[in-house]
Amino acid sequence: QSEFLIAPSILSADFARLGSDVERVIEAGADVVHFDVMDNHYVPNLTFGPMICEALRNYGITAPIDVHLMIKPVDALIPSFAKAGADIITFHPEASEHVDRSLALIKEQGCEAGLVLNPATPLHCLDYVMDKVDQILLMSVNPGFGGQSFIPNTLDKLKQVRERIDASGRKIRLEVDGGVKVDNIAEIAAAGADMFVAGSAIFNQPDYKAVIDAMRQELAK
Ligand code: DX5
Ligand code: ZN
Repeated sequence: QSEFLIAPSILSADFARLGSDVERVIEAGADVVHFDVMDNHYVPNLTFGPMICEALRNYGITAPIDVHLMIKPVDALIPSFAKAGADIITFHPEASEHVDRSLALIKEQGCEAGLVLNPATPLHCLDYVMDKVDQILLMSVNPGFGGQSFIPNTLDKLKQVRERIDASGRKIRLEVDGGVKVDNIAEIAAAGADMFVAGSAIFNQPDYKAVIDAMRQELAK
């Protein structure tokens, strides 16, 4: 068991067969379900909410669910997602009026908490929360859509966040989201990421296991 987590983004799954598609990707070796929540307000697209998360739990999905909130405001939906079976809840600091309070709310609900930084969001928003986050997610595309290309300067940003995490002495996961593929996952890992979201790279292929195995092979290099 490696320390790297592969988290397929179900944004690219087959919504009409969501339960079985998520089951398939977990059986193919995925570690975590990445659950992209969009509200057509914070981002210009609309996806799904707590009911779908709960439906996946009722279907029998037991893998950890990593809820990526691209919604504004965030607080009102945090308890609903916790009840619906989320394990990790992350949000964008721009979308919360009181970031510290939102992080505390996630923890109070028994979930792990994280912040998501857009490509142009500066790192100083991490300054006073390093003791409160379990996970930091760097967006390597602008949020809202699957299938976009990885923005190369994310690699530099990852290195800087990795340094901050190591300096904190805490076990904080460093997740990257957007344009992750078999052919770039190794350099993304080398820059310091240990959790990899991949939507189109996995779900747009017929054989999920082949893609996930190829990713693990790259990560083992
Ligand atoms: C984008 C989402 C991502 C997205 C990744 O706003 O946060 O999780 O689905 O998709 P790919 O892997 O296709 O870039
Ligand atoms: Zn995401």
